[in-house]
Amino acid sequence: MSEIITVIAPVNIAVIKYWGKRDEDLILPLNDSVSATLDTNIMCAKTSVCARPEFKEDGIWLNGKKESFYSPRLQNCLREIKARAAAEKSVTEDFLQWKVHVCSENNFPTAAGLASSAAGYACLVTALAKLYKVKSDVSSIARLGSGSACRSVYGGFVRWHAGTNTDGSDSVATQIADQTHWPEMQALILVAGDTKKKTSSTVGMRIAVETSELLKHRIKYCVPQRTEEIIQAIKERDFSKFAEITMKDSNQFHAVCLDSYPPCVYMTDVSHLVSYVIHKYNEISGSIKVAYTFDAGPNACLYLLEKDVPQVISLIRHIFPSSNPDKFVTGLQSKEEALSPVFL
Ligand code: ADP
Ligand code: DP6
Ligand code: CO
Repeated sequence: MSEIITVIAPVNIAVIKYWGKRDEDLILPLNDSVSATLDTNIMCAKTSVCARPEFKEDGIWLNGKKESFYSPRLQNCLREIKARAAAEKSVTEDFLQWKVHVCSENNFPTAAGLASSAAGYACLVTALAKLYKVKSDVSSIARLGSGSACRSVYGGFVRWHAGTNTDGSDSVATQIADQTHWPEMQALILVAGDTKKKTSSTVGMRIAVETSELLKHRIKYCVPQRTEEIIQAIKERDFSKFAEITMKDSNQFHAVCLDSYPPCVYMTDVSHLVSYVIHKYNEISGSIKVAYTFDAGPNACLYLLEKDVPQVISLIRHIFPSSNPDKFVTGLQSKEEALSPVFL
């Protein structure tokens, strides 16, 4: 019987969005992406794994509900971890034969555009690697679960290089700067809707690849330059440049979603109100103080500097009087207080 291994993993929110695959099985993207990994104090996945000779089959429970383990993504992750364990001779042959049970919970809305697949698969492969005593880097295995998960394996600011190889060997995530590089940087999560999205990210980006002309333009003419510029802004801690690119990229990503046929509508009236309010606030401030970005869902992630947090919290309270902004800011590194997202 194996011990039960439990690990937690963070979400990451992209500032240059990944949207579109060139290979659906290996999960190879059409473009580079850039993200910040948020502190696990605010949102995280928590996954326990265990292997036993008496288990009849592999099993997974997600947020308390049994799900099928026969998903190609789960199968690929488990197979690759076991292949590494076999190559590294880290566990016995017998142990590799035992079936595994997985139990995972997210402490934030699942499949609602808050990167649950990123935290979830980063967590799963990290837990499995620990169970099978795999020592090598597991980011590329997390990618087989969900593309964005390869970035959640690292802290701070992370780039996922699209790569060009057909086997995916150069489609890897690398750290741009660690979590101590820009300690003033904060992220504020505004939950505008916590229900499961109608179109998953996987399906949404498939439709975009098949039908959107704008996606082609974005990949060829916009993302490469933006990626270089935002990396430069991160390295120089140039907030206004960082924020401008972040907002433009979020807007273009949602324009691609609308350009898809049938269109994918992820943002709601509340999301658009958040975007409007942030632009007005920046205009009145005379410089860019806050950036919004929306993943494939209605919820906003605001990036802002610590000094501006109190005023932005007052603003959110004013616009959304029934929201619960108690403590809801996170840095990119550990803070002592317990933090949670705001429900608008
Ligand atoms: P999100 O915007 O939350 O990332 P996605 O559509 O990309 O939404 O992916 C949601 C899917 O990710 C879920 O339906 C589930 O299959 C998977 N997922 C989410 N959380 C976990 C988890 N903790 N462990 C394993 N898989 C997870
Ligand atoms: C909008 O990584 O969830 O959050 O690879 O099909 O699992 P799959 O998709 P996923 O897509 C994330 C899309 C995004 C942007 C991003 O995180 O870069
Ligand atoms: Co996702």
